[in-house]
Amino acid sequence: MAHTLARATATLGLTHPSNIDSPKISFAAKEVDVTEWKGDILAVGVTEKDLAKDGKSGFENPILKKIDSKLGGLLAEASSEEDFSGKAGQSTVLRITGLGSKRIGLIGLGQSASNTAAFKTFGEAVAAAAKSAQASNVAVVLASSEGLSKETKLSTAYAIATGTALGIFEDNRYKSESKKSALSSVDIIGLGTGPELEKKLKYAGDVSSGVIFGRELVNSPANVLTPGVLAEEASKIASEYSDVFTAKILDAEQCKELKMGSYLGVAAASENPPHFIHLCYKPPSGNVNVKLALVGKGLTFDSGGYNIKTGPGCSIELMKFDMGGSAAVLGAAKALGQIKPLGVEVHFVVAACENMISGKGMRPGDIVTASNGKTIEVNNTDAEGRLTLADALVYACNQGVEKIVDLATLTGACVVALGPSIAGIFTPSDELAKEVVEASEVSGEKLWRMPLEDSYWESMKSGVADMVNTGGRQGGAITAALFLRQFVDEKVQWMHIDLAGPVWNEKKRAATGFGVATLVEWVLKNASQK
Ligand code: BES
Ligand code: MN
Ligand code: ZN
Repeated sequence: MAHTLARATATLGLTHPSNIDSPKISFAAKEVDVTEWKGDILAVGVTEKDLAKDGKSGFENPILKKIDSKLGGLLAEASSEEDFSGKAGQSTVLRITGLGSKRIGLIGLGQSASNTAAFKTFGEAVAAAAKSAQASNVAVVLASSEGLSKETKLSTAYAIATGTALGIFEDNRYKSESKKSALSSVDIIGLGTGPELEKKLKYAGDVSSGVIFGRELVNSPANVLTPGVLAEEASKIASEYSDVFTAKILDAEQCKELKMGSYLGVAAASENPPHFIHLCYKPPSGNVNVKLALVGKGLTFDSGGYNIKTGPGCSIELMKFDMGGSAAVLGAAKALGQIKPLGVEVHFVVAACENMISGKGMRPGDIVTASNGKTIEVNNTDAEGRLTLADALVYACNQGVEKIVDLATLTGACVVALGPSIAGIFTPSDELAKEVVEASEVSGEKLWRMPLEDSYWESMKSGVADMVNTGGRQGGAITAALFLRQFVDEKVQWMHIDLAGPVWNEKKRAATGFGVATLVEWVLKNASQK
């Protein structure tokens, strides 16, 4: 990581993340003869079709044929012996002589790799092969890339580069000992050369550094990453890219002046005071044509409050990830600080706090008043995210923005509906839905549009206040989104993204950085020039 996490004066448990710089991998586009490329691994992406053999059990594919002629048929032999059929996820690496490269890797792309997600997975497989061979130089080539359009070559190179960079990344800051990855250069062969491709690869690097920053924020435990430390991390981004960013951090007193009773109610029990974060991006030159806001849920820990999370499956020990929305927002800020798009102003808003229990805390049944004057009967203190977002959304609308996207690990119900890899999106605007979905097709992050069913508002009515904060188990992700809608100006285009599932990778036991890549792409769609 480029910078260490800010240190609280005395961290509970005496834990401090070590300052490990994430390895800088340089990506270059090259047009060279693959058999002459010199380095540690030549990784070839092959589809099932590419592996078709001619009558003499050699390859039909010209690239594989050319490589195998230098290897005396070893590749064809090995691929059939090892039952390598090009299925997605399959890979085999051989130590060889006869080529410029020390090793050849065959990496399966499935029947036909056609989207960003598939090439990102391919990049991750390249990273895994590089790790196990402790390679420092890798070349990547697709067995079939001649037919691809220029646009497809650019997006493929982007996907491979981000997949590799993110696949290599390991968060070792909280381990007392760790091995560093050796990978320093990746040559992408056969997808063209020139300034456009170079720019795309730089973009891949910028987005990846934002994703990695987001992952590090989420991986950091709640005893280290308090609301104050999250605010310091945001301020550091603003000072690192001070040509385009300004930062404003509001303390509890200032939030009180703004009448953010809903947010402050959630924050009340914690010994770690709330910090309301507002970064503003302005382009380095030229006019602003559109103003956007990215709002992220920033619960550095969610115990549930008096409705404490108990019982199997409640995942209380994972609730450090409840600031995953804010990590996506700040990760995007970091990437945009490097990209510096023109024509667009972006506000990054996070009402950071912790949902704890104490005599000062919010009780079930309390009524809180949000900054737009609406009153909320808190029938469940564990539905705290929406209470913090209520005031954050009112604040974002007051910045005079035309479009808002909020991201939150908001409901377990969304995980039940869509599983661990897909985020739910909710918006009344078909136009905004189209923009963000298109952005996600470029980034390779999976989104699925969910309905804002007005009739379900019935369950959110209170006998004594304007609304309650939870409406029961049925359609829980939808009623949460309907609640948020109460705090958004009708003139503003708004989308809510529930990333409770994809924020965390259960297999890797680590954060994914989900959201960053889509947000950056969406902001660039709104920019006049990238
Ligand atoms: N942070 C949780 C949502 C969550 C749960 C994310 C599990 C990831 C995994 C949120 O604050 C919450 O507790 N939501 C409640 C809402 C309920 C009380 C209406 C939930 O989903 O159980
Ligand atoms: Mn909760
Ligand atoms: Zn929560």
